[in-house]
Amino acid sequence: MGQSYNIEICLGSSCFSRGNREVVQVLREYLRKNHLDDKVVLRGARCMDRCSEGPFIIINGKTFTSIGVQDIEKILEKELL
Ligand code: FES
Repeated sequence: MGQSYNIEICLGSSCFSRGNREVVQVLREYLRKNHLDDKVVLRGARCMDRCSEGPFIIINGKTFTSIGVQDIEKILEKELL
């Protein structure tokens, strides 16, 4: 079995309303297009009390802050492929 990845995306109200609402859609679409659905465990997280750094996402324990739809594909290419 190949490598698997854990992605946690903050869906707390601050991160969600400031961009993660769109990021989660782009993320799902990216995983589907690249046939990564079964290699990635995607979890929505509650507010982690780090709203001022958000919106953020954690990929295999590595945190990416202030992300937006414009950043997500680049991050996924680097971290997953
Ligand atoms: S809403 Fe994401 S850290 Fe608070």
